Amino acid sequence: MPMLLNADDYRSRARQMLPRGLFDYIDRGTEDETALSRLRASLDGITLMPAVLAGHSERDLDTTLLGARIAAPLAVAPTALAGLVAHDGETKLARAASRVGIPVCISTQSVTTIETIRRGAPDAKLWFQLYVWRDRDLTARLLERARNCGCDNLLVTADTPVSPNREYNQRNGFGIPFTPSLRSVADVARHPRWLLGVLMRYLLSEGIPTYGHYPAEFRTAITRPSVAEAVRLEHRLSWDDMRWLRDVWPGRLTIKGVLAVKDAETAAGVGADAIVVSAHGGRNLDCLPAPADCIPAIAAAVQGRLTVLADSGVRRGTDVLKYCALGADAVLVGRLPLWGLAVGGEQGAEAVLRMILREMDTAMAFLGVERVTELKTQLR
Ligand SMILES: Cc1cc2nc3c(=O)[nH]c(=O)nc-3n(C[C@H](O)[C@H](O)[C@H](O)COP(=O)(O)O)c2cc1C
Repeated sequence: MPMLLNADDYRSRARQMLPRGLFDYIDRGTEDETALSRLRASLDGITLMPAVLAGHSERDLDTTLLGARIAAPLAVAPTALAGLVAHDGETKLARAASRVGIPVCISTQSVTTIETIRRGAPDAKLWFQLYVWRDRDLTARLLERARNCGCDNLLVTADTPVSPNREYNQRNGFGIPFTPSLRSVADVARHPRWLLGVLMRYLLSEGIPTYGHYPAEFRTAITRPSVAEAVRLEHRLSWDDMRWLRDVWPGRLTIKGVLAVKDAETAAGVGADAIVVSAHGGRNLDCLPAPADCIPAIAAAVQGRLTVLADSGVRRGTDVLKYCALGADAVLVGRLPLWGLAVGGEQGAEAVLRMILREMDTAMAFLGVERVTELKTQLR
């Protein structure tokens, strides 16, 4: 077993473990993957200025986010179908995040329902990600379920009005609904550990994995050809929908996928508590600007009115510090914990998160910074 010392090591190992279709679905971007390269280039181009001889012996990574004390300015991003990466993958992610002391956001499109995740991870700090369904009554009922499971922050995804153009998914035969092809069946057969440890375990218990939150009468096995109209993702979302959500959702409201200053200001105007400055990990529109290039102006415009979260492209603890230095209050990681989950289940996901915290701590020592809030003065 090769040493797993950094995110790249985990990614390489995950590539061996997962069927190609699933690996590519997680790993890759959209179209020509220029957004993916741009957000990495942008993070790589940022430098942080150290303050030498600061005289600190220890660093404190913990912080207050949206009224809660958490172990670091970090959260696990919502990722659809994380339950395919490991059996019961979403619950495992929730337990890993809980042990580390950070929030985890469950996707509308998780394999396991929020109720089951809550039962399996009673202490987890759960957030819920919403893809608004066309049927608003069903959407409201989904929100009630999230609320009843103690999710105190709703991340409504605003940057995905239509399905992104990910050609590799078509080539690999990976799509929802999943339609088995010679290629995809051979792909699965070449990954017996995943076949036996994940797929077979589902098939022998609850059956073909599905989008767990879809209501029973509409529930769509991922092999079925159509998703009922009522639970199709609403592609006409507007700020009025955000006002509606503000009315019906009593917890914190976060709008995910904001890049423009004007949109951040409107988010504050409709009563959102937070935004996620995000390029959706380079997975949606291929000509999006890099979040790192957008955060400073957004943070300056909405300072004191909105909590600013950021994501996309984090591979090192220093990437988290860079987003914080630019003005983010906390950072979401999507692919990283999935690599850990693929490689080592719950322990693997926890190990990856702890690795990022260690990298953050080391870099803060070099920067002469004791607390993450001091990072905002560190950018040069
Ligand atoms: C496999 C996968 C599935 C995702 N599913 C969702 C989702 O259901 N809802 C959502 O808002 N974002 C989703 N995202 C985007 C993440 O929440 C996050 O914005 C992105 O992964 C951050 O980039 P990173 O993976 O480089 O950390 C997904 C990302 C990945 C990698």
